[in-house]
Amino acid sequence: MKEEKKEEFSLMKFVPDDSARKIFAKVFDRQTIESVHALASKGYFDVLEFVISTGKEAHVFRARDRTGNFRAVKIYKIETTDFKRMSQYIEGDVRFGRVKKTRRSLVYAWTKKEFKNLLLLHKIGVRAPLPLAFQNNVLVMEFVGKKGEASPRLKEKPLEDVEKLHSTLVDFLAKMLFKAELIHSDISEYNILNKNGELVVIDCAQAVLNSHPEAKSFFERDITNISNYLRKKGLKITKESLMDEIKAKKALFKK
Ligand SMILES: Nc1ncnc2c1ncn2[C@@H]1O[C@H](COP(=O)(O)OP(=O)(O)O)[C@@H](O)[C@H]1O
Ligand SMILES: [Mg+2]
Repeated sequence: MKEEKKEEFSLMKFVPDDSARKIFAKVFDRQTIESVHALASKGYFDVLEFVISTGKEAHVFRARDRTGNFRAVKIYKIETTDFKRMSQYIEGDVRFGRVKKTRRSLVYAWTKKEFKNLLLLHKIGVRAPLPLAFQNNVLVMEFVGKKGEASPRLKEKPLEDVEKLHSTLVDFLAKMLFKAELIHSDISEYNILNKNGELVVIDCAQAVLNSHPEAKSFFERDITNISNYLRKKGLKITKESLMDEIKAKKALFKK
């Protein structure tokens, strides 16, 4: 084996075997491998076991730490990222205003943004995976699942109790808006997991503060998605009625 390969493989103790290491080295660039290695060295996880999901923007792995706890590790892709789309959600957010205009630095800011948003959701009591650490384009968080099996999305496994579904979603949206002034900006049945009847909001990198110039249109889009979904589940809900229900929670959730 070439010296260079040997060194790279020694950075990949978090991948279970040599054939998986070969694939990993093909898929990820050197800096990404170093970031995963750094987080593993700090003990956030020991092995990346397998891929749970591969999307346009990121791979999500199930990982395990030394004592057997499961983790989810989300690795954002550098090369195939939609630069224009990401910039839109970063530039107007006062927490991130100035980010260097390279693909890499944008993806790093994106990862940090997801970490911060997840933490904020925790602070205000909206159920989301607890973020544990991030480095560059790699985020480690709580694994949402049972006995190692990742929870399905609401899309695949709807809540049986539609009234609970309705009230939980109103609660989530109102808490985000009033307690944190945060707009998820991509909420739908695809980005909510159903953990045995408990709803868990995921995929939060694009969430922006309400002071973002486009916040209002992002919020309207979220409301449209959720009201369409609730209507499909048989509830008599319109965009306007959902908006009213959320507004009615303002006094309860005001900061
Ligand atoms: N913390 C987690 N625990 C378990 N599964 C997760 C977790 N985060 C993401 N997933 C799984 O990975 C999929 C993709 O994650 P998501 O954050 O929505 O990224 P994207 O949609 O940008 O690819 C989710 O639909 C879910 O199946
Ligand atoms: Mg998603």
